[in-house]
Amino acid sequence: MRLAVVGSGYVGLVAGACFAELGHDVVLVDNDPDKLAALQQGEVPIHEEFLPELFHRHHGKRLSFTDNTVDAVRASQAVFIAVGTPPMHSGEADLSYVESVARDIAGAIGDYKIVVDKSTVPVYTSEWVRKIMLLNGAPHGCFDVASNPEFLREGTAVTDFLYPDRIVIGADSERCIDLLREMYKPLIDGSYYDCPTAIPGPNGCKGPAPIIVTSARSAELIKHASNAFLAMKISFINAVANICEAVGADVEQVREGMGTDARIGRRFLYPGIGYGGSCFPKDVSAFHSVARECGYEFGLLDEVMRINDDQRQRFIRKVRTALWTLKGKHLGVLGLAFKDGTDDIRESPAIAIIQSLLAEGCRVTAYDPAAMDRAAEVLPSSTVKFAQSPYDVAKQTDAVLILTEWQEFKHLDLARMRESLRYPIVIDGRNLFRPEDMEKHGFIYLSIGRPDIVPQEELVKFRRAGQLLGK
Ligand code: UDX
Repeated sequence: MRLAVVGSGYVGLVAGACFAELGHDVVLVDNDPDKLAALQQGEVPIHEEFLPELFHRHHGKRLSFTDNTVDAVRASQAVFIAVGTPPMHSGEADLSYVESVARDIAGAIGDYKIVVDKSTVPVYTSEWVRKIMLLNGAPHGCFDVASNPEFLREGTAVTDFLYPDRIVIGADSERCIDLLREMYKPLIDGSYYDCPTAIPGPNGCKGPAPIIVTSARSAELIKHASNAFLAMKISFINAVANICEAVGADVEQVREGMGTDARIGRRFLYPGIGYGGSCFPKDVSAFHSVARECGYEFGLLDEVMRINDDQRQRFIRKVRTALWTLKGKHLGVLGLAFKDGTDDIRESPAIAIIQSLLAEGCRVTAYDPAAMDRAAEVLPSSTVKFAQSPYDVAKQTDAVLILTEWQEFKHLDLARMRESLRYPIVIDGRNLFRPEDMEKHGFIYLSIGRPDIVPQEELVKFRRAGQLLGK
């Protein structure tokens, strides 16, 4: 099939490349000239596993790029809207880009096409897109609008697309549903997974992908409700972690005990410094606004957001507990991205925490395997330096803070890190290390929802030196 994908951000780029992988001819539309030029050169603008492979396979063959929406729409049977829906001050999603694309598409409709929302949008957006298109001259009966939400996570976006837990098709016409089924056929019938060049799936996953057909409104709600639910799970375990700290329990044990209940599940139950990224903060707040618009006060989501914000403040209090005063302290930071496997720092709790610490008069030396270039654009060069390795971060700093759950940090040589640190203090916002290992290596170790580790000899030494007065 011939497809146009309007918007080559995370979702558009990954969806476009994956549809090409499924055998379709895809034209990706973007109006940013620099980005477009880079894409046309074959450059992959985001750090995403397997995306370079897909570009290499399909670029210039089944995957092309343009800034001309009208031409792209004319040449396609289906048009995906994958433009941004950034938050406004009120918390609602700004749908002006979606509206503008709908107008452009309306002007280019000739024969029957389907218009598919892939961006995360509030309920009723499909109906609005339809109305806008009709108002702008798209002939009745010449198009259908569907919602086909994308559930991909950054870092695993390609495999999330090709090995989805489910494909949700929200549409109100059989013709439109059939076209969407056809588009996803290799995933639905599993033929993609038998292909020798298929991108390998996550452990043990063979597909095929279940398909869920709903109304457009239900599909829109599925996306918002799913993201809000996952955010709620994270805030829930963070709240439990705070209770664990108060009573001297271990949240990792509590998490294991809860997560083994199949009804609860282990995933998205990792405590830390709160969720970030381009989706959860925006979507929870947008869903809250949607509910209010519909006359329902979704107070639970207020609490989800409050716990998430509070988690960062609690972490800063931990730093203060370990170091007493913050002014003039030199801190080592491991992790800048909003999570592991990505260079994205949008709404990163790590960046927010660093900014608060800088405001308190700290200096920072930071390391991240992927996000340092992006972080350098938003952090002041006068007080933040970047290191070449995690061990360089430790050198001559007063404490090391772990702010992103990069799995490679888990395998650091603790003895080497201990050697490099001026004071053996590690404050772990992602519970990457086992407290018993940290104790064995003589670290003072503060983490989330677990008892602090303060080796006796360190306590004596540090009290003498005027450190760790909080204990
Ligand atoms: C999310 C959704 O998972 C995805 O389905 C949707 O399409 C887009 O939004 P993403 O933003 O890429 O994906 O990241 P995700 O892996 O969900 O993590 C979001 C944030 O939650 C990160 O900051 C992460 O560190 C944090 N998190 C996640 C936790 O703190 N604990 C957890 O158990 C899981």
